[in-house]
Amino acid sequence: MNETGAQHWVAHRDHYDRMYAKFQAALLSAAAIRPGEQVLDVGCGYGTTTLAAAEVARPGTAVGIDVSPTMLDLARARAVGVPNVTFVEADAQDHRFAPSSFDVALSRFGLMFFTDPVAALANLRRATRPGGRLAFVAWRSLARQPWLCVPGTAAARIVPVPGMETRDGPGMFSFADPDRVRSLLTAAGWTGVELASVTEKLPVGDSPEDAVAFLASGTLGRRLLDGSDEQTQARVLAEVRAALAPHTRGDGVRLGASVWLGQARA
Ligand SMILES: C[S@@+](CC[C@H](N)C(=O)[O-])C[C@H]1O[C@@H](n2cnc3c(N)ncnc32)[C@H](O)[C@@H]1O
Repeated sequence: MNETGAQHWVAHRDHYDRMYAKFQAALLSAAAIRPGEQVLDVGCGYGTTTLAAAEVARPGTAVGIDVSPTMLDLARARAVGVPNVTFVEADAQDHRFAPSSFDVALSRFGLMFFTDPVAALANLRRATRPGGRLAFVAWRSLARQPWLCVPGTAAARIVPVPGMETRDGPGMFSFADPDRVRSLLTAAGWTGVELASVTEKLPVGDSPEDAVAFLASGTLGRRLLDGSDEQTQARVLAEVRAALAPHTRGDGVRLGASVWLGQARA
């Protein structure tokens, strides 16, 4: 993710945290953090999961690592006065962690962006004590994400939709193939790899307008709209809004999303 992407995340942090609340709950439950443990949050972004982990780990600590200064500025501001949280600006793929210094490594959508995933996952395994745990959530395939396919299909009636699925390279869907994820983790020395699917209806927005504004400023939305003139952009947004309307109830727009909840042992 570049810094434009990071600015979108920071601007929509409450929106993302609402959307990912159930996935985060599943992640923390799988991580089974105990008081006194040392936790590493990989690709921690603006620190929501790090702060939640620190709360459970007390008197242990949580360390968040991320490459994005924009994300970390917000994470650090949110952690003022929280004594057991620290943030590190570094690439988790090759950062020199103290060996075996964590009981748990976890990640909410932060493991899919490594240029060399086996090297990165091996680095995280070395940072985790023998017998320590890895827990993460990562997106399943695009076809299993109505929250993206419904608006994407509507937009595709007007503009070409850019490909999003880079299943082998770094990117949002690089953990979609469960066999690939198992083999990456195993090659990196993790054992007892388990992947379970978790499917939820995501609260994409309080209203179709809110959902359209959110989606339009995200990575896919920006890629879709950037090459078009204003009139075309307005048509795309109207088409997407109409496609979201049938998925709107009293509590807002809800569309399906599916992730892998992964677990492994160092
Ligand atoms: C999709 S965001 C998720 C952020 C956060 N975990 C959350 O759920 O709010 C992915 C994050 O991973 C970070 N990231 C990507 N590659 C990284 C790397 N090699 N080392 C550390 N962080 C990385 C990005 O900067 C971004 O903040």
